[in-house]
Amino acid sequence: MILGVGTDLANIDRIRAVLDRHGDRFRTRVFTEVERTRAERTLNPAATYAKRWAAKEACSKALGTGLRMGIAWKDMAVSNLRTGQPVMHVTGWAEDRLRAMTPAGMDATIHVSLTDDDPWAQAFVVIAAHPLAGDAALTLPHPVP
Ligand SMILES: CC(C)(COP(=O)(O)OP(=O)(O)OC[C@H]1O[C@@H](n2cnc3c(N)ncnc32)[C@H](O)[C@@H]1OP(=O)(O)O)[C@@H](O)C(=O)NCCC(=O)NCCS
Repeated sequence: MILGVGTDLANIDRIRAVLDRHGDRFRTRVFTEVERTRAERTLNPAATYAKRWAAKEACSKALGTGLRMGIAWKDMAVSNLRTGQPVMHVTGWAEDRLRAMTPAGMDATIHVSLTDDDPWAQAFVVIAAHPLAGDAALTLPHPVP
């Protein structure tokens, strides 16, 4: 069962300008240590940050909340499996919202797909629910961020 979908397009030049202007204040306020480590290892950190910015916006849409002033951005975070596949984790208010929208007797999984082609970065998020009882095989792995 699909519980929510969200998409976002982020401009990499805009993220690069914010990084230049606000530096670590922006990095640490919006991105987790895992996200920052991956971005800073790449040749184009702004593109990696922009994909994760888009992922957070897309996730907030899939959660049905959108983004409000003062929300904790790091409560929606992207990590990567060994294959490179991105995984979205939610904590705090976003986890509370995910639980509230998940029907009784079901578990929810957040699927995310990212792409970039400078100057654009894009994210799609789909939140799917599946029955809890007796079918653990349907539960996808969520690595610790
Ligand atoms: C996945 C792949 C198609 C990405 O295409 P691309 O044109 O290089 O890059 P895009 O801008 O479209 O997408 C990049 C994003 O794809 C996602 N991605 C990478 N590997 C992925 C995978 N196996 N499954 C799903 N998504 C993947 C990541 O989120 C990545 O962004 P990030 O590194 O910032 O998280 C390409 O890297 C590929 O073919 N990889 C498979 C081969 C490989 O390297 N395998 C190694 C492990 S088995």
